[in-house]
Amino acid sequence: MADEIYKRVLELNQLLKRYNYEYYQLNESSVSDQEYNRLMDELIELETLYPQYKLPDSPTSHVGGSYSSEFNKIRHNVPMLSLSNVYDENEIEQFNHRVEDALVHNQKYEYVCECKIDGLSISLVYKNGRLVQASTRGDGTIGEDILANALNIDPIPKTIDYDKDLEVRGEVYMSIETLNKLNEIRVKNHEAPFANCRNAASGSLRQLDASITRDRHLDVFLYTLVEPKKHQIHTQYDALMFMKKLGFPVNEEARICKNTSEIFKFIDRLGQKRDSLAYDIDGVVLKINELDLYETIGYTAKAPKWATAYKFPPKEMTTRLLDIIFTVGRTGRITPNAVLEPVKVAGSTIRRATLHNEDFILERDIKINDIVVIRKAGDVIPEVVKVVKERRDNTAKDFKMIDRCPICGEPIYREEDKSDYICLNIDCPARLLESITHFASRKAMDIDGLGEANVKLFVDQGFIKSVADIYNLKNYDYEMKHLPGMGEKSVANLLQAIENSKTNPLEKLVFGLGIPEVGEKTAKILVNEFHTMDNLMNASIERLNEIYSIGEVMADEIYHYFQDKKNLELINTLKELNLNMGTEQVKEITNDSFFSNKTIVLTGTLSFIGRIEATELLESVNAKMTTSVSKKTSLVIVGDNPGSKYDKAVELNIPIMTEEEFHQKLVEEQLVLF
Ligand code: IVH
Repeated sequence: MADEIYKRVLELNQLLKRYNYEYYQLNESSVSDQEYNRLMDELIELETLYPQYKLPDSPTSHVGGSYSSEFNKIRHNVPMLSLSNVYDENEIEQFNHRVEDALVHNQKYEYVCECKIDGLSISLVYKNGRLVQASTRGDGTIGEDILANALNIDPIPKTIDYDKDLEVRGEVYMSIETLNKLNEIRVKNHEAPFANCRNAASGSLRQLDASITRDRHLDVFLYTLVEPKKHQIHTQYDALMFMKKLGFPVNEEARICKNTSEIFKFIDRLGQKRDSLAYDIDGVVLKINELDLYETIGYTAKAPKWATAYKFPPKEMTTRLLDIIFTVGRTGRITPNAVLEPVKVAGSTIRRATLHNEDFILERDIKINDIVVIRKAGDVIPEVVKVVKERRDNTAKDFKMIDRCPICGEPIYREEDKSDYICLNIDCPARLLESITHFASRKAMDIDGLGEANVKLFVDQGFIKSVADIYNLKNYDYEMKHLPGMGEKSVANLLQAIENSKTNPLEKLVFGLGIPEVGEKTAKILVNEFHTMDNLMNASIERLNEIYSIGEVMADEIYHYFQDKKNLELINTLKELNLNMGTEQVKEITNDSFFSNKTIVLTGTLSFIGRIEATELLESVNAKMTTSVSKKTSLVIVGDNPGSKYDKAVELNIPIMTEEEFHQKLVEEQLVLF
C-alpha cells in the first residue's frame, strides 16, 4: 500500500513537472486546466497525508512556473501566489465553511466576485508616479523582468498621478478579436495559430524582442493592490476603485456578493454573458472583501485561503470528425469544414468546426473518422484543435483537397504564397449569395427581412442577380407576396427597409461592399478620412498607406478593389439608385497658425487625440503632413514609444515637439478646447 502511494506521488511529480514545463517554457499544454488542477489537488492531498513522501522540489511547494534564463530575474517583495480551484456549488459551500471556521466570533464578511481572466499575471511597480518595474510571476518568488515589454502594452499606464510607491498586479491578456486577427495572419504565413488567448498572451509578452509585444496589441486588467494599508485601503472593492481612479484598466464585471447564493447568481449571469465578452475568461475568482481578515484566514504553501477560483466547465471537447465539406465565401475563398458528431461544448451543441485551409489539415494530420479535440472560444466559429492520435483506427481516411468549386463546378486555384484556394468565377452563385447577405446584414446596410433564407429565395427566383438588384426588388412586388412564407405586410416592410437603407451613413455601405480585409472599423476609418465614395475610389495606394491604422496588405486590397471594373460598375449603379455616397467636408483653411505651411511628421502614439484627428486638424491650418523625416521636415511631433523617425529627427537636427507641448500649442491656438 505504502509503496503504491509513493509510486503515485512520484508519478504525479513527474507529470506535473512535465506540464509545468510545457505551459511555462513552451507556452502550450497537453492537458486541460481542469485535469492539471485535479492532479495538483491529488498531490497536495497525498503530501498532507504522507508528508514523508514529499519531494524537496515538489511542484506543490512553488507556484508552478519556473523562470526563463533569458530574462533578468526580479525577486517579488510580496510573493505572487496562485489560487485554489473549485468546480461546483458544493465545493463553493465547502470553501465558505472553511472561511467561517477560520474566523472567530462570527466575524462578518462578504465576497467580491471577479472575472477570472485567461491570461498571465503581471506585477507593476511605480515610483514617483512612473512605471519602473514590471515582472511575470515566475515561480511566485522570482519572476522575469519584462519592463521593456510592459512599456509596449498601450493600456498599461506609464505614469500615474500618485507620488507614493505603488505595486499593482493583474492579468495581461489578448482580446478575442486580436487573437482571431493574429491567427488569421499566422495561418496565412504557414505559422501555427495560437491555441487560445492565454497562450497567445504568454507568447507575446515573454518576447525578448519587445517590438513583437507591441505588434501583438495586448491588454491588461489590474485586480490586486499590494500592501493596501499603505494606501489606506481596507477592502478589495475599494482597491479596485482606487486603481480605477488612478487610471488602471479594471474589469467592470466585479460585484460584491453577500453570501453563497449571491455568488451562484453571479456565476450564472457571467456564464451566460461569457460568450459575448471581448476577452476570454475561464471562471470566477471569489475573494473575501475585507482585506484586514486575510492574515486571520491565512495561506497554504501556494495559495491564499481567503480566495478561490471557480472554474467554468471546459470549452474543449473530443468528438468524431465524420466528414470534411467545403463552403465558398463572398470573396470566393474555399474553406474546409469538419462535420462532427454533435457534441455539447460550453452550453451549445457543435456540429461543424472550421478547418481553415488545406495546410491546416495536413500539418495537423487530420483524417476523416479521427477523434478530434474541438474548441469554442467566445463568439468565434468552433475549430478543430488537434487529433487524438491514440484513438485513430483503420477506418481513418486521408483528406484530399478538391480541385473544383463545390457550388459552380469551375476549377479552383491556390493563391501564390497563400494557403487558400479561390473560386475565380465572379458569377459563382455562392459568391453572390454571400455578398448579398453580407451587404444586407445588420452591421452593413441593415436591411431587416433580407437574411440568408430570403436572399436565397430571391436569388433562386431570379429576382436578384447582383447586389444592386436589391434596390429593384420593388419591381417584383406582386411575385414576392405570393412566395411561401411572404405576405402583403412582410413585403411592404422589406421594401420600406430597402428604401430606408439608401440614406445609411456611408461607412455602412463601405463595409457592405465586402472589400477584402475591410471590417466595420476600417470602413469607419476610411469614411472619416475620405468623406465621399468618390474620394475613396480615387485614393492612391500611397495615400491609403499613409493612414495610421491601415496596413500594407489592407491598403493593397482596397486599392485593387476599386481598380476592378465590375466593382466600379456596381458602385455607379448604386449611385444612380440614389444611395448616400457621403458629402465633401468644406474645410476652412487658415494660414495664420503656428503650424501653417510647416511640413510635419507625427511619430509614436498620441494619447489625447487620435492620429487621424491630429492630421485633420493640422491640415485644416495648412500644414503639410508627411510620413517620413527628411531635411525638408520642419517639425516632428513625438508621442509614446516613437520609432526610428525620432532618431532621424535628432540626427538631422529637426525641431521636435513632445505630445504635451503639441497639446498645449493646440489649446493656445484654440484648435482644441482643452
Ligand atoms: S487574484 C493571491 N484575480 O488566475 C491572489 N487572479 O489561477 C492571486 N487570474 O495567478 C490572484 N483573473 O494569473 C486573481 N480576477 C483575478 C484573476 C486572477 C485571473 C489569474 C492570475 C492567478 C491565476 C490563479
